[in-house]
Amino acid sequence: MKIFIQILLLLAFSLNSWGQKSSVRNRVSIDLNWKFLQQECKGAEQPNFNDQEWRTLNVPHDWSIEGEYKQDNPSGTMGAFLPGGIGWYRKQIDINNLKKSEKYFIEFDGVYLNSDVWINGHHLGFHPNGYMSFSYDLSPYLKEGDNILAVRVDHSKTPSGRWYTGSGIYRHVWLTKTENIYVPKSGTYIISDNFLEDQATVKVQTTVVNESGKNRKALVRNSIRDYKGNLVKEVSDKLLLKKDTSVIVQDCIVKAPQLWSTDAPVMYTMVTEVIVNKKVVDRYETPFGIRNIEWRSKQGLFVNGEAVIIKGLSNHQDAGGAVGVAVPDDVLYRRLKMLKEMGCNALRTAHHPFAPEFYTMCDTMGFMVMDEAFDGWWTAKAPYDYGNYFDEYWEKDLESFLKRDRNHPSVIIWSIGNEVRKFTPEQQKIVVDKVKSIDTTRPVTQGRGYIAPYIDISGFNGHGELKNELEKYHSKYPEKLIIGTEITHTLQTRGVYRTKTWYRTKDNPAPWEKPAHFARIEKKVTKIPDLTEEEVFTGVSNKYQSSYDNSIVRIGVRDEWKRVEALDYYVGNFRWTGFDYLGESFGWPGRTANFGIIDLAGFPKDHFYLYQSLWSDKPMVHVLPHWSHKGKEGVEIPVVLYTNCQTAELFLNNTSLGEKTMTSERQLVWKVPYEKGTIKAVAKIDGVVVAEQSYTTVDRGTKLTVSSDKTLIYANNKDIIHCEISITDEYNNIDPNAMNTFEYEVLGPGRIIGLENGNILDISSNNTSFKNVFNGKCLLIIQATEKTGEITIKVKSTDLQPAILTVRAIDYIK
Ligand code: GAL
Repeated sequence: MKIFIQILLLLAFSLNSWGQKSSVRNRVSIDLNWKFLQQECKGAEQPNFNDQEWRTLNVPHDWSIEGEYKQDNPSGTMGAFLPGGIGWYRKQIDINNLKKSEKYFIEFDGVYLNSDVWINGHHLGFHPNGYMSFSYDLSPYLKEGDNILAVRVDHSKTPSGRWYTGSGIYRHVWLTKTENIYVPKSGTYIISDNFLEDQATVKVQTTVVNESGKNRKALVRNSIRDYKGNLVKEVSDKLLLKKDTSVIVQDCIVKAPQLWSTDAPVMYTMVTEVIVNKKVVDRYETPFGIRNIEWRSKQGLFVNGEAVIIKGLSNHQDAGGAVGVAVPDDVLYRRLKMLKEMGCNALRTAHHPFAPEFYTMCDTMGFMVMDEAFDGWWTAKAPYDYGNYFDEYWEKDLESFLKRDRNHPSVIIWSIGNEVRKFTPEQQKIVVDKVKSIDTTRPVTQGRGYIAPYIDISGFNGHGELKNELEKYHSKYPEKLIIGTEITHTLQTRGVYRTKTWYRTKDNPAPWEKPAHFARIEKKVTKIPDLTEEEVFTGVSNKYQSSYDNSIVRIGVRDEWKRVEALDYYVGNFRWTGFDYLGESFGWPGRTANFGIIDLAGFPKDHFYLYQSLWSDKPMVHVLPHWSHKGKEGVEIPVVLYTNCQTAELFLNNTSLGEKTMTSERQLVWKVPYEKGTIKAVAKIDGVVVAEQSYTTVDRGTKLTVSSDKTLIYANNKDIIHCEISITDEYNNIDPNAMNTFEYEVLGPGRIIGLENGNILDISSNNTSFKNVFNGKCLLIIQATEKTGEITIKVKSTDLQPAILTVRAIDYIK
């Protein structure tokens, strides 16, 4: 089964466009070679403006992440103390054989924020929303040869969002050419329903725009292709194309469909052809999936007839301090792959739409998505956020967002907001009605939206973590399903431990929490017993959080999961968060609050394995803490094991410390007097060892080690190498306490695009040739250029053996 899924993933991912290209429609990336200036510049929209001195770069690009963390940056705690400002981009677009009958569209997947776009000096529009994709028709203003596109991005007022937002053209840009009879962007809507024994009906609604100036008779042919490109079903119907826009709805009965699910994410492609005078004038492809999603009152979520619990994570779109929000596709893919391995089956796009490739990856890798449109509505949540533009723009933006994402099988529920300030039930109804006018196949929820009646599935955030809140709500509204739109909140720092339980509102209050807060909620908090009477790990900065399951806001991970398993009407939850994200700092010099179960660099914390033990079936065991505790000889350290197996045994220096059977507590604990050596856990099913994990003491690392996820990349300006730099002993055991500074150098055709060590307090610049590891590790990200050859990564540090690694960039064969 696993191999089958992997093959499907590979095929589906590479078969985004399954081979046959339209002779008329042509969509190309225009990410490369933009000119950029990070300041206001009068007249830069004019085609003859001289931009010779400007920097040349490729998008996606985030200029905030290239800046310095400074306490007085007005972005403050919300924006990770990184700068905003004004930026200008210019790009030359060459058009050859320009024909009057052809259309050209520029598509921006996302620009943060307040962008103005010009082509050849003509203003195309203003787009305030920094997360929604948008496009413009260039056709009337183009000329043969060179054309100049200019984009002004105004992020001069911060903070402008929650949380870190980035600045600039931080997603891909595309140029699409069509005939003047064409399917517009997001012009198809595909629904699967009428699921019978072994068939389903696929309904496709196609919009065709006719700008030829006269009525035309057309044939609209929709063909369903499977992931190998085989024809599954075809339907053709006549359509009279009036001037402007026409719509046709066609039904296809698909026999024995291969259904999409998170375990088998089978994709199909709808190929839409518009035929006029026997000539195919447009050919438009829509990847889609056939799946039967049911939200059954009192029973929960059913996918293709099977009960499914949402094992979800809320995430922000940034990928830490290395790349900010300009996340290369490979970086995103690596992150999602980790979540898949952890057993996560659902993701929430907190608190706004993500880049289009995110949804494509969720489709093909098998994640369900709660697609969130907005953070707030008419009342701003950050002083300069979209709330200031909401009234004028929300309807148009919401419509284009829904149309962009409604064909993705991964998207199973819409979220219309998150902890929306000062909203009225009437406003909720207006927004819900708008969603229903565009898509009727998915329910609507809202983060903490249960307080008003118009959403379909009641969304609970942190408040729902309090004892009996869900039960109380259910007894009042027994027909409503409940979803944990943002549950549970725990905090942890990679490699940091405390044996006494911490409650955020009491022990490390967020800036907005008053001392009385804890007293108010204390009785409703699910307490976690301390692991020891006296704190074992004293002297830890109070900005760091413990990686045992004992640093919580209102409920711990294990206690929360018991609730999910117990309550049928509770369909599951999206924990806050999967990855650490920039912003929401609890104060300078913190870059984030440390909610993630994976750090800013993408290194798993212990919670990653706790979730894996709860969510995945593949036998695993994980032991914590690490075993390098110089000075603690003889002190009893609580050793915790997470496993999804029946029993586990712990060994210290090959001596068994006993076998234990897993209970509903979902962790096993041994109190072990510390002595140097190797601590090893083995997990068993029916008495047979199926998984093991160990740590060996490293008192002081002696060398640098550099490893990478790839040894070969394409010289395509896109591919990414993730290099893990660690400090180890001679046997490659990581020194979990190492904080050394190292120098790095990259030679050959590779571009350094950032470093990140995961330390929330590390505000050092990325514009130097040195960095620190944090608790033994740091990540260096390198991107391919257009040149082939050897990329050499060298790292060195005082008193440590240096390391070197070589990766080859080879020709890209199309
Ligand atoms: C929620 C909010 C999130 C994040 C989280 C952690 O209330 O929706 O954006 O702030 O709390 O404190």
